[in-house]
Amino acid sequence: MPRHLRSLKDVNAAELDRILTLAREVKKSPERFTQKLAGKSIAMIFSKPSTRTRVSFEVGIHQLGAQAMFLPTGGTTGLQTGRGETPHDTAQVMSRFVHAVVIRTFAQDEVEQLAEHGRIPIINALTDMFHPCQALADVMTMREQFGDDLRGRKLVFVGPGNNVTHSLMLAGSRAGFDVVCACPESLPPSHVVLERAKADAQKAGTKVYIEHDPRKAVKGASVIYTDTWVSMGQEAEAEALKAKLAAYTVDDELMAAAAPDCVFMHCLPAHRGEEVTASVMDGPRSIVFDEAENRMHAQKALLLLLLEAEPWC
Ligand code: CP
Ligand code: NVA
Repeated sequence: MPRHLRSLKDVNAAELDRILTLAREVKKSPERFTQKLAGKSIAMIFSKPSTRTRVSFEVGIHQLGAQAMFLPTGGTTGLQTGRGETPHDTAQVMSRFVHAVVIRTFAQDEVEQLAEHGRIPIINALTDMFHPCQALADVMTMREQFGDDLRGRKLVFVGPGNNVTHSLMLAGSRAGFDVVCACPESLPPSHVVLERAKADAQKAGTKVYIEHDPRKAVKGASVIYTDTWVSMGQEAEAEALKAKLAAYTVDDELMAAAAPDCVFMHCLPAHRGEEVTASVMDGPRSIVFDEAENRMHAQKALLLLLLEAEPWC
């Protein structure tokens, strides 16, 4: 049975450590891995826009010696999924041609179905529910900043409960840090994901909780993290979301209320003047572009493991 990354529920703490240890090796010595996926083809199905995910996967796959196929689902020349071909049939067909599928879409269920009905690894490149590849790069970046032992560190996500929040909540227990969701009462994370993240955290000895007041939440934080207030697919609700989040901008005052070594992270794309001020985004504590770069290194490591070009242990 192939392994997948449908969400971070697919990896335990030891496996996350393995992905990120390999990612560090890949980043340090990319030349050691150039032919590891020679002869392989990887489909990239995208139903939403992307800059980082698309470019980091395409370049990363090229650097591993494989072929990346960018397959948008919209427009007149998109995949047949855009005209109603089922995930079942798409999974069957893809399994006969390619060695893995990277997919960015709306419904998490589409990712689950591709995994259920295909015979190849399926990698979630963002759904409305999860963004696990982002979380891999985020933990890699935190390790670069603070060392591999993240126990006692606190990441505070300031903004709406969303796909990025969900993946960070699951990452905390697997990587050893606490996660606080500083969200308005009207924009909480998914109850189901929160309960799962709390159960995982309890077993791991970490914490996941909601604190609606961002100033209280960031006390002692090592990372303040935010994301766009309007996720892809929510454009019609943009004004209502912005009104609900008006008190949740990450600014210099909020950064000053955190730990002295606190860094600012953002999955990007950023909207200066909305979820973050320009002075924080472009300031000395911002590590957002290291974080963006690490998308590629972490995903290369993930591909090497899922395609069995490197051992899990
Ligand atoms: N962070 C992230 O996934 O960026 P893109 O939407 O540009 O891929
Ligand atoms: N929450 C955002 C993340 C973008 C990388 C979205 O889904 O649009």
